[in-house]
Amino acid sequence: MNRKEFIKNMGAAASAMTLGLGCSKEAAASGAVDSGKTVVPAGKAAVVYFSWSGNTRFAAETIAKKAGATLFEIKAEKPYNSDFNKCCDEAKPECYGKKLRAIKPIEGLDLTKYDAVFVGTPDWWGTMAPPVRTWVTQNKAALKDKTVCIFQTHGGGGMERVGREFAEVVGDAAKVLPPKAFPGSSIKSATKALEAFVTDRITVK
Ligand SMILES: Cc1cc2nc3c(=O)[nH]c(=O)nc-3n(C[C@H](O)[C@H](O)[C@H](O)COP(=O)(O)O)c2cc1C
Repeated sequence: MNRKEFIKNMGAAASAMTLGLGCSKEAAASGAVDSGKTVVPAGKAAVVYFSWSGNTRFAAETIAKKAGATLFEIKAEKPYNSDFNKCCDEAKPECYGKKLRAIKPIEGLDLTKYDAVFVGTPDWWGTMAPPVRTWVTQNKAALKDKTVCIFQTHGGGGMERVGREFAEVVGDAAKVLPPKAFPGSSIKSATKALEAFVTDRITVK
């Protein structure tokens, strides 16, 4: 099963989510509680991401560069299988069950140093990758009052449930800006869109 077949064969629930939206998927799934630009002092932004095959890493690096942010990677304690099909099989029950996957401590990350936190995930089975769910769950209290903004890369499904479920996990205490989905296969040509994602949301001063 290649990536295209994967999308085609995604479970009924995920397909219904993907196809059933009459309005913009992004707006419908955003879960955003605020919009507009937030002023962030220079050096006060962080980008925290998980990536299995590199697309979200590229997005995270580009966003961090534009925002002058410090970059941190979330790593599963037990890495997922490096084979695409096996990884899909391993992740499916975790994603549908909203399970947490144990993650390694992130060296040097002290959230008290940051005002704005971008969080990046691949779209896995219509939602955030379990290590991201774990990180957000563990850091929910520390994200209180911070500007938080999620971005994701996907294989054709668009935003799906990622923005909405992220907002549910992080809760009302954080200021959640509108999330954005980027097609993973063309991420290396999306530098301008990634930069606009940052400048549409925050002003670094
Ligand atoms: C386990 C797994 C599940 C996936 N589920 C979806 C999905 O539900 N919808 C979708 O559009 N793409 C899905 N994809 C494709 C990835 O979201 C896409 O390739 C993404 O850009 C990968 O990011 P990464 O390179 O940072 O890991 C899935 C990929 C994997 C490995």
